[in-house]
Order: sequence, then structure tokens, then C-alpha cells
Amino acid sequence: MSKAKLNVVVAACNNMGIGINGNLPWRLKQDMAFFKKITASTNDPEKKNVVIMGKNTWLSIPEKFRPLSGRVNIVLSTSLTEVPTGVHLAKSFEDAMNLVETMVSTVEGVFVIGGASVYKKAMFGSYPCRIYLTQVLADFKCDTFLPEIDEKAFTKIPNPSDVPVNEFEENGTKFHIVVYEKCFN
Ligand SMILES: NC(=O)c1ccc[n+]([C@@H]2O[C@H](COP(=O)([O-])OP(=O)(O)OC[C@H]3O[C@@H](n4cnc5c(N)ncnc54)[C@H](OP(=O)(O)O)[C@@H]3O)[C@@H](O)[C@H]2O)c1
Repeated sequence: MSKAKLNVVVAACNNMGIGINGNLPWRLKQDMAFFKKITASTNDPEKKNVVIMGKNTWLSIPEKFRPLSGRVNIVLSTSLTEVPTGVHLAKSFEDAMNLVETMVSTVEGVFVIGGASVYKKAMFGSYPCRIYLTQVLADFKCDTFLPEIDEKAFTKIPNPSDVPVNEFEENGTKFHIVVYEKCFN
């Protein structure tokens, strides 16, 4: 397998906040729909995508929706001892990536879905990385934040065809999706 490419999927508001009290600060149905589509869709119907998340993000998913369906779920934790059958536990980001390497024949994309320290690992690590960033154009009180995107390493690219270019609005909150890419040649 050539070096896996990581896809970060995140929504952040004006202060780059992503979470509050273990939950999302907002409820944006169309962004949730985008999240599901981008993380679950594969070109090869025989393959699945992997989602890698930290323990708090795992616990923030309502029980009836976890594991995230149609995707290989990897949860990072040094303290969790139990996850449902079929979900993978990894004790480090490196362990998670080693696990991904063993799934090469059945896996298509690798999506990093939070939280803060897991995003940091993906964004500042040595893997090629794409960021799907939903910019929530509003102020929300947050206690968890996206690490700053290093504009020297990441380039903003035109939205690929599977990423909407329009501005959304729900309950008075506007948001749109932008894409950044970090390549190593
Ligand atoms: N806006 C968005 O797009 C978005 C996306 C995801 C999450 N969120 C929000 O962000 C918040 C959760 O994020 P968070 O930053 O607090 O927590 P998190 O990253 O989801 O989970 C942190 C925990 O995960 C484990 N972990 C993380 N990195 C690890 C590593 N490299 N190796 C081993 N274990 C690791 C550790 O668990 P142990 O203590 O067990 O070792 C750590 O305490 C919630 O509010 C959630 O709603 C927002």
C-alpha cells in the first residue's frame, strides 16, 4: 500500500470551535448528511471506508447511531476496554494506521473524524492529508477547537465534484464547505 492518505472531516465555527460539553455546538442536518455521504461513499462497492475517532467523539455519537454504519470504525483510547463487536480499538494513532494497513484489500478511504488531538495527529503527521472543513459562519461557545490549519503546508483546492460549493443556511446559521490538501511529492 502506498502511504495512506488521510481525510479530515470537521465542522468549525468562527473561533475554530468544534465542540462543547462533549457534543456539537450546533445542529446542522445538511452538514450531517454531507458527513455521512463523504465518509460512507466508496467507488468500489466491495470496499468500505475507515473512520478513526477519539474516545470522546465515539461517546458523543448517540448509541443508536454507533458504530457508524457502513464504515470500519476505529476508536482511539488507552482506557476503554470494551467496544461493540466489529469495532476496533487502537491504543495510539500509529496502531490505528498499522491496523488500516492490514485492511488494504477491503478499505478505500481513511477518514479522521475527531476530536482535537486526533485531528492534530492527522494534520501535522507525515501522511498526505485532505481536510474537508465546514466553515460555520457564526459564533458558538466552544470548549474544543480545531488546531490551526498550517497554510504553508496546506493549499486550498477547488471543491471536488462530490463536495457542494453552495452556501447552506439552517435556522439562521450559514455554512459552506472548503477543502484543503497537503501533498508530499
Ligand atoms: N465539529 C466537528 O466536526 C466535531 C467532530 C468530532 C468531534 N467533535 C466534538 O469534539 C468533542 C470531542 O473531542 P475531544 O477532542 O474532546 O476528544 P476525542 O479526541 O474525541 O477523544 C479524546 C480521547 O481519545 C483518546 N485518544 C485521542 N487521541 C489518542 C491517541 N493518539 N492515542 C490513544 N488514545 C487517543 C484518549 O482516550 P483515553 O483517555 O481513553 O486514552 C483521549 O482522552 C466533542 O464535543 C465532539 O462533539 C466535533
